[in-house]
Amino acid sequence: MVQLTLPKNAQVKPGKRHAAPKGATRVRRFKVYRFDPESGENPRWDIYDVDLDSCGPMVLDAIIAIKNTMDSTLTFRRSCREGVCGSCAMNISGRNTLACTKGMEELPPGVITIAPLPSQPVVKDLVPDLTNFYAQYASIKPFLQTVTPEPQKEWRQSEEDRKKVDGLYECILCACCSTACPSYWWNGDRFLGPAALLHAQRWLVDSRDEAAGERLDDLEDPFRLYRCHTIMNCAQVCPKGLNPAKAIAEIKRDLVERRF
Ligand code: SF4
Ligand code: SF4
Ligand code: FES
Repeated sequence: MVQLTLPKNAQVKPGKRHAAPKGATRVRRFKVYRFDPESGENPRWDIYDVDLDSCGPMVLDAIIAIKNTMDSTLTFRRSCREGVCGSCAMNISGRNTLACTKGMEELPPGVITIAPLPSQPVVKDLVPDLTNFYAQYASIKPFLQTVTPEPQKEWRQSEEDRKKVDGLYECILCACCSTACPSYWWNGDRFLGPAALLHAQRWLVDSRDEAAGERLDDLEDPFRLYRCHTIMNCAQVCPKGLNPAKAIAEIKRDLVERRF
């Protein structure tokens, strides 16, 4: 039998309980992952009974209420509160999503479990270290590359060509997809993952870009692209309704046809 050796603090222990304020009548329980790598202690699950009458309807509202009124040590990222910045991505009741656009009512009844995005190192509590994720995004050169001289005004694009980037440009780099992808869990150091590949396709289909050949050369690699096995987790979790698996399939098709 395979013997797995887990790191010293890999086991998540039960943590502290924080009761709802006296008199609260509508209470929902949250089980929240807590971990401070600098403390040398094991991660733990803290329990918070949140008074729903004192916060808004979204999961992020409850997390902010926890921080403001119950436990100021809880660490998480958030900024826009309207599904635009991607910073509040986390694993909520077993599924990667944005805390600010996920209504508590949408979740199955009972305890709401909140953990950081899976498979990435944890900076603290609900904050994953996305250094590798952003480096992979940078590696696909997410900007216009041209060889013809710059026009005097803007680069022109027909309406029809502009439509080709629909379903691709809307990505907010929340990392929900990549961190839900089993291929990325196992080979995240070498497989670019669905988010970076969706962006690669966004520049491949841009009619103004003139570096398609080099872009495809960079992607033609058994790990960077071909670790995608069409498991489709990425498309299922994307909070913007995008389909990275389809974008990846289109890159593979372009490589077979190799028109550039
Ligand atoms: S379709 Fe590809 S990128 Fe998406 S989850 Fe599956 S293996 Fe990962
Ligand atoms: S494709 Fe969707 S899930 Fe993936 S990073 Fe972009 S917005 Fe997030
Ligand atoms: S806070 Fe910006 S997407 Fe949630």
